[in-house]
Amino acid sequence: MKSLFFLVIIHSLYGNIQAKKFSVLRISPSTRADVEFLQEIRTKDHDLDFWKGPTEVNREVHLMVDEAQKAYIERTLERHNINHTIMIPDVERVIVEQKKKRAKLNSELRLRDWRDGKINFNLAQYHSFADVINYLNALAVTYPELVSVQPIGTTHEGRQIPLIKVTNKRLQSGNKKAVWVDGGIHAREWVSPSTVLYFIHTLITQYDKDPKIRQYVDSMDWYLVPLLNPDGYEYSRSSTNPEIRLWRKNRSPTKCIQVASGPFTPPQQQCCQGVDLNRNFDWFFGQVGSSTDPCSEIYQGGFAFSEPETRAVRDFLAQHRITTFITLHSYSQILMYPFGHQVRTYSNDLNDLHATATNAANALRSMYGTQYRVGTGADTLYPASGGSEDWAKGKAHVKYSYLFELRPEEQVWDGFLLAENQILPTARETWEAVKVIADQSLRLQ
Ligand code: ARG
Ligand code: ZN
Repeated sequence: MKSLFFLVIIHSLYGNIQAKKFSVLRISPSTRADVEFLQEIRTKDHDLDFWKGPTEVNREVHLMVDEAQKAYIERTLERHNINHTIMIPDVERVIVEQKKKRAKLNSELRLRDWRDGKINFNLAQYHSFADVINYLNALAVTYPELVSVQPIGTTHEGRQIPLIKVTNKRLQSGNKKAVWVDGGIHAREWVSPSTVLYFIHTLITQYDKDPKIRQYVDSMDWYLVPLLNPDGYEYSRSSTNPEIRLWRKNRSPTKCIQVASGPFTPPQQQCCQGVDLNRNFDWFFGQVGSSTDPCSEIYQGGFAFSEPETRAVRDFLAQHRITTFITLHSYSQILMYPFGHQVRTYSNDLNDLHATATNAANALRSMYGTQYRVGTGADTLYPASGGSEDWAKGKAHVKYSYLFELRPEEQVWDGFLLAENQILPTARETWEAVKVIADQSLRLQ
């Protein structure tokens, strides 16, 4: 008995020593020099996880740090007179609390899928990869005239990436417009797969009820991939440890690099897993806003399309004529169009892309008042090469290519840890924007 008691004490002490505590700092650069200083930190220190990177004067920066990093960063900020507050004092506590809350969910927010009571899937919750697969398969069985499910690739860990096609199969036509929607390219951005699932649900269950949806499903092919990065997603679900819940990349095998040595220290190896899939597309690959360091959050991979997930997108788009490419991320509330690899770089149909984005953002706002900014990724956030929306426009020649950074906005404190009661409002308002983009595609010759 006594020894058990000691064991418990030792175990909890050990646990305290082992578990890293993470917090998120809210940093407010007030001069151009502040912004540039933070940008320099971001490019130099690849271990830092900027939830929201530095972009412009007076725009908040969110930075997740462990305790050692926190002490060092706070000292540095104070030395440079850059204001900051603590946005999340203990990230893991928030993750654990939200997990508890999930059990007693507001039943009003539940939205079910059914036909003859066959499918029971709560769209107001975050789901496992297995549950998503089962849901998609149930839709294919229940609505065979509208739905087919197929894998478009296999990940490093052997998961099949599912794509669901929604169209009225009885109306065959060679020139249906085709829309691509993907979610979950970044593992921790959980609201994005949930939003794609809501789109799927809406297209299928509103077919008989809403003439506009009927038009979409009759005259367009909808290709939806709710979980483009299932390995990363499952990893991010596997623990409340912030280093795991806030995983961004895929789960590609470990790669090592030599790190610079000091005069008395031998060169050391640093080994890490995962490629940032949204740096791995063949569009100015390896240039600004991506990294060759496997331990970086924005590690670009060995070469363009080195990853099975990005190759799956490339190969699918090579075989299908896609008019509209939509990719969902979180967070910041921005609707982006190409090109994001460097500032002030646009396609020659900029006016059309911009006007459509503005109309889409207005439609989105009309639902709950949610404000979006509109522009290229480089102009609104930061330049990043190798992004999918750029590649889709520049290399795959998709006419309308958009990236959504979904809720929350920057003043909200929870960032990637968006509460489940936000899923349906987020999905509903985003669908209003997607409809505007789809309507625009229907107008093409
Ligand atoms: N948060 C996204 C990312 O880091 C934004 C990318 C925007 N696209 C771009 N090409 N800059 O992947
Ligand atoms: Zn993202």
